Amino acid sequence: MKTLLIVANTPSQNARALLEAASRGANHPEAGGVAVRALQPPQANAEDVLAADAVIIGTTENFGYMSGLIKDFFERIYYPCLEKTRALPFALYVRAGKDGTGTVRAVTAITTGLGWRATQPPLMMVGEWQNDFTVQCETLGATIAVSLEAGLF
Ligand SMILES: Cc1cc2nc3c(=O)[nH]c(=O)nc-3n(C[C@H](O)[C@H](O)[C@H](O)COP(=O)(O)O)c2cc1C
Repeated sequence: MKTLLIVANTPSQNARALLEAASRGANHPEAGGVAVRALQPPQANAEDVLAADAVIIGTTENFGYMSGLIKDFFERIYYPCLEKTRALPFALYVRAGKDGTGTVRAVTAITTGLGWRATQPPLMMVGEWQNDFTVQCETLGATIAVSLEAGLF
């Protein structure tokens, strides 16, 4: 059994909908051999990352940066995971009111330091809420899970 870890902060109803959509996608029927663990950032620790075969990070953009909870998650897992999670496949989704670029830059810097491997470009959901955002998140979750199941990473 492979494990897909999803770590996302959910300060709003919309952010919660994105996490639910990513989890729903990750539980795709064609990825039956993938166990999905969706955790709030404070509940996720280095052991969870070390046990994961792929990771999805979801964050809102706050003050031009990733959310404080996701930053705290990276601060706690960085050194325990450094050297042990090189090439770990990961994907990022960002919900931002009007920008999102500072968040992508910051997460990219940290994940580059960790040596993680982006499976796809960051999914940016910027501006006024669109119902299609949940579809995009569901697709992202399904793509990672099915790829993991197929041994493509
Ligand atoms: C304290 C705070 C700071 C924020 N800073 C930014 C920001 O720098 N850039 C941005 O695009 N959106 C910013 N936002 C908007 C959030 O990204 C947005 O409210 C969040 O993603 C939830 O989206 P929703 O309104 O669809 O629920 C901020 C929101 C809060 C509460």
